[in-house]
Amino acid sequence: MTLSDTAQVRGDIDPSLLATFPPNFQWGVATSSYQIEGAAEADGRSLSIWDTFANKPGAVYQGQNGDVAADHYHHMREDVALMAQLGIRSYRFSIAWPRIIPTGVGAVNASGLAFYSQLVDALLEHGIAPMATLYHWDLPQVLQEQGGWLSRNTAFAFADYAEAVVGHLGDRVKHWITINEPFCISYLGHADGKHAPGMRDPQAAIIAAHHVLLGHGLAVPRIRALMPDAQVGITLDFSPIYAADDLPETRQAVTSEDTFRNRWFVEPVYRGTYPETLFAEQHVAPPPIQEGDMALISAPLDFLGVNYYSRQLIGGDPDNSGSTRAIYPVPGSAHTVMGWEVFPQGLNDLLLRLHRDYAPAALYVTENGAAYNDEWDGGDRVSDPERREYLVAHIEAVAHAIDQGAPVQGYFVWSFMDNFEWGEGYSKRFGVVYIDYPTQRRIVKDSGHWYHDLLARAPGSPAR
Ligand code: FCB
Repeated sequence: MTLSDTAQVRGDIDPSLLATFPPNFQWGVATSSYQIEGAAEADGRSLSIWDTFANKPGAVYQGQNGDVAADHYHHMREDVALMAQLGIRSYRFSIAWPRIIPTGVGAVNASGLAFYSQLVDALLEHGIAPMATLYHWDLPQVLQEQGGWLSRNTAFAFADYAEAVVGHLGDRVKHWITINEPFCISYLGHADGKHAPGMRDPQAAIIAAHHVLLGHGLAVPRIRALMPDAQVGITLDFSPIYAADDLPETRQAVTSEDTFRNRWFVEPVYRGTYPETLFAEQHVAPPPIQEGDMALISAPLDFLGVNYYSRQLIGGDPDNSGSTRAIYPVPGSAHTVMGWEVFPQGLNDLLLRLHRDYAPAALYVTENGAAYNDEWDGGDRVSDPERREYLVAHIEAVAHAIDQGAPVQGYFVWSFMDNFEWGEGYSKRFGVVYIDYPTQRRIVKDSGHWYHDLLARAPGSPAR
């Protein structure tokens, strides 16, 4: 039986929209190191802040951690072969800093690099373009002990680490993402406490954010110096904010939430300044900005990576008290098991807004996807019609954005396979490939078969 034979195509993207995608469009899937690799102690890897955090009682669902995860470290060739079978054209993965420089700064660990070098070779052998993220949240614990992102030194350590990686893989990897989701690193990790390192201090989030951005800014020229033909970008997560009514207090709340949730990072990167009202509205002091920082942070990029899952809806108090509230769940809308509203129009609006307000040279949707309670039949079938519908609607939203002028050059489903969903542990499944964790068996979900089928029909497909 071939992969397509088992596909259950119910609901599909409008064929006329499929033609909108350019032939060289990067159709991909995404993962990250700590979420899939496991092999926590293999080949000289040191602890990351996520190892430490996950082992704190109560931090992660049922005390789960990434020690084994999807054991991708030992299933790498099988996983790449499966990607190839699915017709995936591009793979966004991340590199674990604790495997490359286990002491945070200093000596490079050749066996840690060897794993990624073999991964890249395997991808290229299968005709899959690698897109590498240098930091997807697994900071070496040893650096956390020296202040982590609250220390300016971490930004310099990151640039050294980036240079070490790009020096080894840059001959084969052409697309580099410095940092994944600085908002989550800063806010969830330092103010909200739900992510590593688990701090709860709004001022710390502001400082960490600046050092994360500085790390990005320091790394970019060093990547370019090594590999002048590299395409370099950053991935930001966005959650567009919408007003449920026309009240002045609602409009005010939407603007201020948008500044915090969406403009905090894109403005320094594209305009070289933090949004004017950000710090006062968040009741914090500005971060310690040194001369030259903002110029480094705003150096031109080849692309902006966009992660989009959902939106937020804000409305005024029905009792007219003058206060506002988040409307959740949204009446009449579907929601994923993360509790996130399914709102594809948000992705279309977001891509057009980014194009209009910041004019990035190119846009990639570096993550988009959904968690559902998938059920495996114990054989070779996982039925996940809601995920397929989610992907159809969001890919259509991207097509419309391209049609309306947004320079979107790729789309990556989050995720290739089920994995460790941070604080939610293994309870939330985002993959288009199911992982049976006790046996580490991979089973392509119906959505994965559908994606395969879509890619075979998309412009530029060798199967066309
Ligand atoms: C994003 C993360 C990614 C994944 C998805 C669901 O915030 O970048 O690692 O957990 O959410």
